[in-house]
Amino acid sequence: MNPVEIAEPLRSRWSPSVFDAEHVLTDAEITRLLEAAQWAPSSGNRQPWRYVVAPRGSAQHQAFVPHLSRGNSGWVPRASVLFLSAFEVGQDGVELSDLLIPAHDVGQASAHLTLQAQAMGLHAHQFGGFDHEGAAAALGIPDTARLLAGIAVGVRGNPAEVSERDAERELRERHRRPLDETAYERWGTPWPSLTPSGPTVA
Ligand SMILES: Cc1cc2nc3c(=O)[nH]c(=O)nc-3n(C[C@H](O)[C@H](O)[C@H](O)COP(=O)(O)O)c2cc1C
Repeated sequence: MNPVEIAEPLRSRWSPSVFDAEHVLTDAEITRLLEAAQWAPSSGNRQPWRYVVAPRGSAQHQAFVPHLSRGNSGWVPRASVLFLSAFEVGQDGVELSDLLIPAHDVGQASAHLTLQAQAMGLHAHQFGGFDHEGAAAALGIPDTARLLAGIAVGVRGNPAEVSERDAERELRERHRRPLDETAYERWGTPWPSLTPSGPTVA
């Protein structure tokens, strides 16, 4: 359980690795998840996110699964649906700086989808461990778009049905870097309210 007093469903969200391989999401539920992403903010309201929706058993699910990394190949396919995030990068001459904000916006839309899943009593686990080039080709994603990450959504399953490794992952303690290593008043100097001595008086 998350020890801090943040709002639900942020507080209870976590990423399980044991999904129920029989559970099916309705099209209405999948649409609700996509709507959460749809209403995320984005730079210039450009909404650069795209998702390939791959319910378990669909042709796109079968096309994607062989491209998963070894560590993800056990737990990801069991989820009820996979959302594979991507964004349009346009034609030739794209600079890295042109990609940063769209990538930021896709990540934010995916976070909204993930939290919507939690609010609906589902669980979501994002993943980046797959052969991006192979998966993009298998899913028909053109060179003008970039495949980013996946979101596995479903309900929790029986740990006895999965490998020991996947079952154990669920039991790992969750850690976070302390906030004073994250929030600065000046780069490298923690925001003073986070330090034991508190804010300095000028
Ligand atoms: C973009 C992204 C890629 C990730 N890739 C993987 C992955 O390939 N395999 C995996 O098991 N978890 C993956 N994760 C999940 C993280 O490991 C997990 O969110 C992190 O350990 C924190 O745990 P929590 O979500 O339970 O708080 C990924 C998460 C994100 C946001």
